[in-house]
Order: sequence, then C-alpha cells, then structure tokens
Amino acid sequence: MSLYVVTGSASGMGSAVVERLKGSGHDVLTVDQHDADVVADLSTAEGRARAGREVLKLSEGRLDGAVLAAGLGPALVPGRAKLVLEVNYNGVVELLEAWRPALAAGGNAKVVAFGSNSSTTVPLVPAPAISALLRGRSDRALWVLNLAGRQAPTFAYAASKIALARWIRRNATAPEWIGAGIRLNALAPGAIMTPLLERQLATPAEAKLIRQFPIPAGGFGDPGQLADWVVFMLGPAADFLVGSVVFVDGGSDAWFRADDWPRGVPARRLRGYLKRMKEFRR
Ligand code: NAI
Repeated sequence: MSLYVVTGSASGMGSAVVERLKGSGHDVLTVDQHDADVVADLSTAEGRARAGREVLKLSEGRLDGAVLAAGLGPALVPGRAKLVLEVNYNGVVELLEAWRPALAAGGNAKVVAFGSNSSTTVPLVPAPAISALLRGRSDRALWVLNLAGRQAPTFAYAASKIALARWIRRNATAPEWIGAGIRLNALAPGAIMTPLLERQLATPAEAKLIRQFPIPAGGFGDPGQLADWVVFMLGPAADFLVGSVVFVDGGSDAWFRADDWPRGVPARRLRGYLKRMKEFRR
C-alpha cells in the first residue's frame, strides 16, 4: 500500500480523493485549514513552510504521491485576489518544492495538481501577471491584476491556474522531477458541484454567469468522478503520463477552443524546436 499527501482534504474534491484512497487501503496524510493531520493556512508563507516541514516529518521522508487540491474560488470580494494567488499558485508550487525529496525517495511518485478549465476559457487574462507568478513574484502579479478593479479575483483565479499548469509542464520534464521518477500532471475540472461552487451559486451575480456558461454535457460535474480521475492519475496507468493537463469539464474547453490546440510547430518556432531536439539527452 502507498502513502499519499492530499491538500484541501477537508472539503469537495480533496475530501473525495481521501475517501477513495483510504477505501483502497492506502495511507493518506491530510493538509487543510481545519480537520486535517497538518492544519496550516496555505495563504501565508509561514503556513506553507510549516505544512512542508510537517509532512516531511510525518511521512518520514518518503511519499508515493501528492494531490494538491486546496484552492479558493474567484469570489468578488476585496482582498480575494491576493488570497487566490497565495493558495492556488504558491500553495501548490512551494509545497511541491518542499516535498520533492520525499517524492524522489518514493521512486515512482505521481503528483496531481488541481488546475481548472478557467485556464483556457477566461478571456483577457493579463499575460504579465502569469509571467510574474512563474518568476516567483506574486506581489508583482497582484499589482497587475488589481488594475482590473472589482474583477481582479476573476483574473487572479484564471492567472493562478494558467501559471500552475505552465509550472507543471515546465518542471515535469526537468531532471529534478522526471529524472527522479516523479510524474507531474494537472487535472483541469470544469464546474463541479462542491462547496466551492455552491458558494458561488449562492451569490446572484456569480450564479448568473455560471449558469450561462456553456457546458455541452449539461449540468455540473460530480466530485466523486473527479476523484476517480485523480486516483487513476496516481496509479500505474499514469507511468507514461508526464506534464499533461487533463481536462474533465463536460466539453466547455472544446466548445471554446476546439481549433486552438493541438497544433503543429509553426515556422517561427522551428529554430527553437530544433534546438530543444539537440538539447535532449537520453
Ligand atoms: P472546496 O472549497 O470544496 O475545497 C477546497 C479546500 O481547500 C477546503 O477544504 C479549504 O479549507 C481548503 N483551503 C482553502 N484555502 C485554504 C488555505 N488558505 N489553507 C489551507 N487550505 C485551504 O473546493 P473544491 O471545489 O473541492 O476545489 C478543489 C480544487 O479544484 C481547487 O483548487 C479549485 O480551484 C479547483 N477547481 C474547482 C472547481 C469547481 O467547480 N468546484 C472547478 C475547477 C477547479
């Protein structure tokens, strides 16, 4: 049996993942603001550092996988944009960096980070905010996002999930990760009926936008089904899955972006592509 760590374990999809893993006989270390083995506020650097340390201690330095589900939705309230960046981006990247030695010790560890289909369906997300996050400058990202005024949390949410998906894809193929046998992947859910979505639906302005949003499959997703995807992405079927962002969103991403990807390498990228080819060492 394996040992996994799950953040955001007290509610919604994180809680469903814990239930499934424990039901299959695995050991699980849970991290959340409440009702968890490690109680920590991931919106602060101190809380993230403590969660990093405590899990290393409780796992005795060896993990078979990690699921990063702690996250905040884009509620339109003052101060939310900062919290969203801290929890949704720094709360994943800093914990993964802290836990990397334990995941490497696992030998064949799998990581599933929760992205979102907001990463491909929210228009006009400011690119400088995304690159600032990837440079470790969430202060700078926040400054850019606050230019959007009341809508800052919406853009902060999408920016946090785009930057996270790109961090996963950049690092997944690096020697520190795949070289140590660690498979980094992301899951990008659409609207899933969890307490996060319930809170959004309880706010009339947000509810109107959510109900208008195209979901070709109809209805909202089920947290248990998303948990099944996570368990699959932690198992042997995912040995060859590296740097993927798996969309489970009822078809919204395909509805909006069917022709945007996959696509071939354009002429202007050919030189960089050939350079990458030469850089690769078997
Ligand atoms: P949820 O609200 O049911 O659960 C989120 C968990 O994260 C909670 O247990 C909460 O206590 C924890 N958390 C929040 N802030 C924290 C903090 N500062 N420190 C420690 N823990 C904290 O949410 P849900 O829906 O299960 O979301 C899980 C992940 O899926 C999130 O990353 C979310 O962004 C993502 N997602 C959710 C979608 C949805 O429609 N429900 C859609 C797309 C992505």
